[in-house]
Amino acid sequence: MTEIEKKELIKRALEMRNFSYTPYSHYNVGAALLAANGTIYTGCNIENASFTPSNCAERTAFFKAVSEGVKEFNAIAIVGGPSDAIELEYCPPCGVCRQVMSEFCKDDFIVICAKSVDEYMEYTLPEILPARFGPKDLLG
Ligand code: THU
Repeated sequence: MTEIEKKELIKRALEMRNFSYTPYSHYNVGAALLAANGTIYTGCNIENASFTPSNCAERTAFFKAVSEGVKEFNAIAIVGGPSDAIELEYCPPCGVCRQVMSEFCKDDFIVICAKSVDEYMEYTLPEILPARFGPKDLLG
């Protein structure tokens, strides 16, 4: 994956923060998921008055892709912070989203946590979710 492709993914994630529905936390997260076929699936977090039905930006992106028959992915960019933030800090993916990644992604899947298109950290899936339970444990 080139640096230009990474920056494009971060840009798409940043745009998604505008669509976050966060009347409770006011913490807006955007994600952009690059599928192996080259398509980018975007997502934002969507909260709920009953709290537990809330969905993270990353899972919104994954579920949009999988619901359209796409199940192979190369990378995801994640950006988040208070809705009125002028500068963002890093927003690491929550544990539930890491587990969803582990369902569909291989060890070379790249997780990009960004403050901006110029400032980002990169991890592989095994780095952020070592010793994980996944499809291989049930399917062999
Ligand atoms: N959130 C995400 O969308 N992704 C993460 O990985 C961390 C948390 C959302 C959930 C909730 O709407 C808000 O951020 C505060 O937790």
